[in-house]
Amino acid sequence: MEDRAAGPHLATRMAAIAPFEVMEIQTLARALEAQGRDVVHLEIGEPDFATPAPVVEAAKRALDSQPMFYTSALGIPPLREAISAFYRDRYGVEVDPARVVVTAGSSAALLLAFGVLLDPGDEVLLADPGYPCNRHFVHALGGVPRLVPVDAASRYQLTPALAEASWTPRTRVVMVASPSNPTGTLVEPGEIAALAGLARSRGATLLVDEIYHGLTYGRDARTALEAGSDVFVINSFSKYFQMTGWRLGWMVVPGGCVREVEKLAQNLYISPSTLAQHAALAAFSPETIAILEARRRELQARRDFLLPALASLGFSIGAVPEGAFYVYAGCAGLTSDSFALARAALSQAGVAFTPGKDFGFNAPERHIRIAYTQPVARLEEAVSRLRAFLGKGS
Ligand SMILES: Cc1ncc(COP(=O)(O)O)c(C=O)c1O
Repeated sequence: MEDRAAGPHLATRMAAIAPFEVMEIQTLARALEAQGRDVVHLEIGEPDFATPAPVVEAAKRALDSQPMFYTSALGIPPLREAISAFYRDRYGVEVDPARVVVTAGSSAALLLAFGVLLDPGDEVLLADPGYPCNRHFVHALGGVPRLVPVDAASRYQLTPALAEASWTPRTRVVMVASPSNPTGTLVEPGEIAALAGLARSRGATLLVDEIYHGLTYGRDARTALEAGSDVFVINSFSKYFQMTGWRLGWMVVPGGCVREVEKLAQNLYISPSTLAQHAALAAFSPETIAILEARRRELQARRDFLLPALASLGFSIGAVPEGAFYVYAGCAGLTSDSFALARAALSQAGVAFTPGKDFGFNAPERHIRIAYTQPVARLEEAVSRLRAFLGKGS
């Protein structure tokens, strides 16, 4: 029996909110490091690059010249305009700055989107494997995440056919991420258009997470805003712009929803970080973009090293990751328990990666996620340690 006297009554919904397994692995890794062991960190979804210098300089200037008051819940106008200009320059898509909502990371954007779109019991279609917070946000708001198992046949993405087959009368939102975490695969523009059309025809909404845009290798991703002004699109300064800790993102919403999103943002967190917003004004400058594009090339080199190396160790790659900084690797040829593999690789080989369990319920024991967030030399070290650990010879 649980000791109910030990603490306050907890909401039932908390039972559905799982911790990040990746954090547990990281905690174990840090404990090993405290004992003097060297660990190659391939677990966390955050590259080793510092925020670009022009952004940091802009923040310093803002601190000296601006009072750090609250801003509008929708963000400062120049940043909303800069984001709109970014869509024009990079994608050739016109977006009214009035539809751009600056948020406290894309995490807040997700909360706002689900908050304005879901009634209790409403369902959201999500790919499994997928980013775990999505289903937890839905749970937290009283909605029901409907996880659709996806595999290499659809490049681990929710297709229009899969969405249609999983549709119920309570489906209100269809969500995809392109590129996806954990698989790095893209949704083709034609499929985005078909998903938008399906949602539209049934009075539902397509929500597209574009947080890994800019980090694609070989081709540029196209934005789902092309598919219509009724699509919700989420993005962030965290990944391509390498500003994870600044906690700044944005969302483009249909014009008729801006006021609703604004009301909710005002109440949930008043406004996004003022300092981060002023810093982000420098994120689109040519100097910053030049730095980011060099880093994108570096990430591509890491991916290109890792893919054949992992295959040589016995991992399978169901679909080539075209973006983000993750490889979602099948480990069925090596183990039937990815969780045990992750722990053993950490303690015996000093290599930290994430077991599939973090990303859903669809064969998590047969998959791991490797984040290529370290330089190639460290990836080489990780591969050679894993080779010895797995007994694969040299
Ligand atoms: C797919 C995806 N969406 C959203 C987020 C949230 O990022 P942030 O709140 O830093 O913008 C992450 C973070 O890892 C992610 O991987």
